Amino acid sequence: MKAQAVLSFFFTLIPSLCGSQASFSHVSMNEQIVTGRLGEDVILPCSFESGPNVVIHWKNQDTNVYSYYKDSDQLENQDPRYVNRISLFRGEIHNGNASLSFRRLTLQDEGIYVCYVGTSLGKITKKVVLKVGAFVTPVMKYEKNTTNSFLICSVLSVFPYPIITWKVDNNTFISENNGKEVGSLGTFHINSRVNITGSNSSYQCAIENPLLKQTWTGRWTMKDVLHKMQSENVLLLCKPENSLFPANQDFTVTWSRVESGSSLLLAYFKNSSQETLINQPRLSWKEELINSRDFSLTVKDLRLSDSGEYLCNISSNKSTLLTTQTLHVEASPRAPAGIIVLVLVAIISAVLLLSVAPRAVRSQRCIDFHKERHPPTNQNSSSAGTAEENVGRTQKARPLHLFFMASTFNLSPGVSTSV
Ligand SMILES: *[C@@H]1O[C@H](CO)[C@@H](O)[C@H](O)[C@H]1NC(C)=O
Ligand SMILES: *[C@@H]1O[C@H](CO)[C@@H](O)[C@H](O)[C@H]1NC(C)=O
Ligand SMILES: *[C@@H]1O[C@H](CO)[C@@H](O)[C@H](O)[C@H]1NC(C)=O
Ligand SMILES: *[C@@H]1O[C@H](CO)[C@@H](O)[C@H](O)[C@H]1NC(C)=O
Ligand SMILES: *[C@@H]1O[C@H](CO)[C@@H](O)[C@H](O)[C@H]1NC(C)=O
Ligand SMILES: *[C@@H]1O[C@H](CO)[C@@H](O)[C@H](O)[C@H]1NC(C)=O
Ligand SMILES: *[C@@H]1O[C@H](CO)[C@@H](O)[C@H](O)[C@H]1NC(C)=O
Ligand SMILES: *[C@@H]1O[C@H](CO)[C@@H](O)[C@H](O)[C@H]1NC(C)=O
Repeated sequence: MKAQAVLSFFFTLIPSLCGSQASFSHVSMNEQIVTGRLGEDVILPCSFESGPNVVIHWKNQDTNVYSYYKDSDQLENQDPRYVNRISLFRGEIHNGNASLSFRRLTLQDEGIYVCYVGTSLGKITKKVVLKVGAFVTPVMKYEKNTTNSFLICSVLSVFPYPIITWKVDNNTFISENNGKEVGSLGTFHINSRVNITGSNSSYQCAIENPLLKQTWTGRWTMKDVLHKMQSENVLLLCKPENSLFPANQDFTVTWSRVESGSSLLLAYFKNSSQETLINQPRLSWKEELINSRDFSLTVKDLRLSDSGEYLCNISSNKSTLLTTQTLHVEASPRAPAGIIVLVLVAIISAVLLLSVAPRAVRSQRCIDFHKERHPPTNQNSSSAGTAEENVGRTQKARPLHLFFMASTFNLSPGVSTSV
């Protein structure tokens, strides 16, 4: 207890000494600094030796914040900005507690509050410096247009003005380009932007609120370009280094496809609820996600239209980790010739078959085709056309489809005669 009192004496003494060398009257064991957050509540402490006939006045400069005497609140002279936001702990006053409960802080509440208490035993004066900070969790955005790519670290509401630093690859600090606006509550809205240039494959920004002693980090990394053949599978990597992983924080993982000016959500995972979402039947997570630190995504049976840039986003309210990877899917060289031969073979055999047993075969193929067109899995990603979809399908599925094509030709008299 004693050591604690001495320590707190030094902590209150040091800032006072630095702040005003001229007047020692500011040096006081009774000054305390209280930091609150915008919109939240705080207690301004004040204690006294209890005695009869308690009179309490709280003031901020010359404005009346709160008064209490004759055993009741005296609020006639209370400044309007404190109305309904302030109270004493009525049940605690007789124990020597004159602390103020302050609700829904605004930036204008910052200031030096003085607590004057008198009783029949004596008087005390105590000073509380109230500081108010704001820090809404920032976001890191990755955007590109046809010629440039950018990273934007953005914070919607922060106070005081934060320290923003950018690093490229390991350590280089680069100059930042910060757009700043002041919002209605007096907080800053900041967009700090850099161009992704040269061969640099990782960028990091840190936004620090020195008052609230809170730092948020955004990191972007680009993986090597992947080259794959049509109908192969690919593993898109997203495995954060341990030092960057949001330890003991709730986090979400999203995979999306980045296009110029937009992005399309592919998969989602939220750690606290273990909620997962996969938007395409050809996608799957590499591992069971429970306690996993590997959020790599497998894409099966690649199509040409899968070429593009993929972004994995792991975000907690302390950090965001973005990993991008570009995928190039190339056409299998033999595919077009092979398909033409298959089509011809299929059409000829279908014509032959249908001339032998027309009715039975026709209805059976129709049923097979129906199953093929509407597989049981939910397939709600339809960026690729049907033609390509069928080209990408496995060998097993292809003949069924071609048989159907043949039987349609036969059903339509015009086409049938041309064959
Ligand atoms: C006064 O009472 C309130 C409510 O019990 C408590 O939170 C606060 O810490 C007390 N303050 C002091 C200075 O004892
Ligand atoms: C990453 O995810 C966070 C949280 O869902 C989101 O606020 C942020 O905009 C995302 N960033 C990108 C580049 O998608
Ligand atoms: C891409 O963005 C940069 C920087 O904002 C801009 O200078 C350039 O004109 C943009 N290009 C296109 C094609 O919109
Ligand atoms: C970053 O630093 C690590 C070691 O700290 C080093 O192995 C690596 O090559 C550095 N990377 C770059 C791009 O400088
Ligand atoms: C990014 O590039 C655009 C033009 O391409 C330029 O206007 C802008 O100043 C650059 N920003 C930074 C931070 O270098
Ligand atoms: C990125 O890398 C290039 C070399 O490829 C270098 O010239 C440039 O200064 C680096 N830094 C930034 C911020 O782009
Ligand atoms: C993710 O959630 C699981 C289960 O709720 C939990 O055990 C684990 O600690 C969480 N991971 C992190 C990094 O918070
Ligand atoms: C961060 O997230 C935790 C729970 O996920 C929440 O309790 C906390 O208030 C958040 N912090 C900020 C600064 O938003």
